[in-house]
Amino acid sequence: MNLDFDLALHLEPYEIESTIKMLETELKKQKTDIFGLEAEGKIVPQSLVQKNRDTKVLLESIQAGTEKMFGISLYIDSKHYDRKKLDDVSRKIQDKMASLMITPKVPSFQMYKALRSTLPVLDDQLSIKREITSSAASACFPFVMSSLESKAGGILMGFNTINDIPVIVDPFRASNPNILVLGTSGGGKSYCIKLYLMREFLEGVDTNVIDPQAEYSDFAKTFNGKTIKIAPGSDTVLNPFDLLGLTLDEKKLSLLSFFRVLLGEMDEGERAILDDCIDATYDSVGITKDPKTWSKHPPTIADLYDQILPLTKSEKDIIYKPSMKIANRLKSYVYGPLRFLDQQTKINMDNRVITFDIKDTPDIGKATMMFLLLEFIYTEMKKSRKRKILVVDEAWTVLSAGDDGEYILRIVKTCRKFNLGLVMITQDVEDVLTSRAGRAVLSNTATKVLMKQDPSVIKDLTDRFRLNEKEQMFLQTAGLGNALLILGTMRTPIRIKASPEEHRIITTNPDELMEMVHEAEALKVRREGVPDLDVNKLLQRKINLTNDQIEALSRIGFHEARVKNLSGTSELFLIRNETGYTDERFVLQELIQEEIMKYTKKAMIHYTELADISFESKDGRMIGIEVVAEASPDMDERIIKKKLPILEKYDEYFIVAAREETQRLEGYGRIYSRQQVPDVITSYLQS
Ligand SMILES: Nc1ncnc2c1ncn2[C@@H]1O[C@H](COP(=O)(O)OP(=O)(O)OP(=O)(O)O)[C@@H](O)[C@H]1O
Ligand SMILES: [Mg+2]
Repeated sequence: MNLDFDLALHLEPYEIESTIKMLETELKKQKTDIFGLEAEGKIVPQSLVQKNRDTKVLLESIQAGTEKMFGISLYIDSKHYDRKKLDDVSRKIQDKMASLMITPKVPSFQMYKALRSTLPVLDDQLSIKREITSSAASACFPFVMSSLESKAGGILMGFNTINDIPVIVDPFRASNPNILVLGTSGGGKSYCIKLYLMREFLEGVDTNVIDPQAEYSDFAKTFNGKTIKIAPGSDTVLNPFDLLGLTLDEKKLSLLSFFRVLLGEMDEGERAILDDCIDATYDSVGITKDPKTWSKHPPTIADLYDQILPLTKSEKDIIYKPSMKIANRLKSYVYGPLRFLDQQTKINMDNRVITFDIKDTPDIGKATMMFLLLEFIYTEMKKSRKRKILVVDEAWTVLSAGDDGEYILRIVKTCRKFNLGLVMITQDVEDVLTSRAGRAVLSNTATKVLMKQDPSVIKDLTDRFRLNEKEQMFLQTAGLGNALLILGTMRTPIRIKASPEEHRIITTNPDELMEMVHEAEALKVRREGVPDLDVNKLLQRKINLTNDQIEALSRIGFHEARVKNLSGTSELFLIRNETGYTDERFVLQELIQEEIMKYTKKAMIHYTELADISFESKDGRMIGIEVVAEASPDMDERIIKKKLPILEKYDEYFIVAAREETQRLEGYGRIYSRQQVPDVITSYLQS
């Protein structure tokens, strides 16, 4: 409204029990009224009947747990420096509210209370309330965004960075279901999409991923999906010549693009030769323009090579030169490291989640492989109208290769028709902005996620997306997981946040992954224990342990400490000290307890205000022991002074001091050194 006012909304949840009681009383009252009227032979007003019905429905839904009751108060504090203009502001607000069927009242003689009630101090002094249900309360929530409104059935993309409101969108309902993620390396692009995929999966959407980094396998595993590894030696192969349901003409078009990826740029002459040879290759296995022949066994790259080889013997330069060039480059796909392409297609696609791991595909073949897969998956996915997603991570490799964007344009333009959302992730922002292919993708992608950007591309981005200054700043300084979400003409800065469970599945942070392995191992140690060892004992002597035992203990939080034992010589221990005390103090306390335990089980260590250790002597008296091992004699004394009133409540107490000089402690009780402990304990516990 562009007016100056504060709006305060107090929402107070009511106890379910008292609400039910209140409603039951209300129901009884209504029934008595209705009954009374009927008994007198009067007409029962419809409003009363309706009220009775509503109360009943409300009571039922509260008992069923689908609704809760709230007390709601709504106050508006209109402001202006000028008295007359203030009235103006108030009137405008009143008008606006009237249009929403709300009739506001001015609390004329309670202005102080009213003002307090609008301050953000949770002090509803006016306490003018109305009871409403949860669904009504949620409709009152005032912080709806004007830009990206949440829609039922969408996906939680993140939280608005300004007001933390969940941003829920459904990319499939945009003008096209494609998504483009742009940002610097490590900004959280893959993370964002993995999260999106997981959430879409739960909505019933199928997903395929072309995964050059092999980082989506955990995601696939979690959802019983499948990871298809494509590398020399793997069983899965894609034959580029396989028609895969395309017509021969379509296939030839895509093959020409494919070979441009495979062989690099070609001149006129080379292209002509290749074109002829592809025709001849299909011809050689009996596949012609006649659709009946298309189901025949397709040729492979070796067949193409066989067609080209004779041409390299040609006398004519115009044939010899280009065919020689093609043959040379093709050789590695027939004899060299990329020979695995030269086979018939063998891929089983019967799963809702499939990731294609091409990490171990030789580098020179990566772009080719991505291209082939894109084509293959696209063709497969065209077969159903179900919602599905194809993710191409590190997409620039495939976007940039080939025929200057024609090919990719064909795919991004048509996937909407098959309900296929193409998700492309890339860090090569500049290429996307400047190349033809990039522009084709941009103009056919409704949802864009811009993550942290290099300063060098900000200007181009600003031109392309008309970013304002704030957005430019945001993108340059965006932290991990922050993004500008652009959907059509609307944009919102969001923070992408996963639940801990989701995070565990999708993170690639090596430290965290290590941590998870450790956690799993630690859990195993805690559950299954360690042979011949009590892992619940917080103090272990290293000399008694095997290497395996030491390793297992260190997994569950034990560490090594060299500390003096009760004979006064230093010894290596493995300890799990979670007390906040120094290791020396911790070990001393544990050793004293151990000493007592030789005679009686009635000993305890306290980490509270009680004596550090207490035990029952042979003749049934409670003995308290205070252990002091502070940083300075001064601190030792302070501790004892504080503890004294408690220690004096025991039948007897004594102090064990780690420090040699104990003058400061004299006068507070009997003081022993650690070496004296065994004898003292014996005196209490041996008959
Ligand atoms: N929203 C987030 N919340 C928490 N951690 C995140 C978030 N986004 C990313 N990370 C962490 O950062 C790591 C790197 O993120 P991610 O792999 O998504 O980067 P990227 O942009 O895909 O980088 P590259 O371009 O190198 O592939 C993740 O494994 C994860 O640990
Ligand atoms: Mg990535």
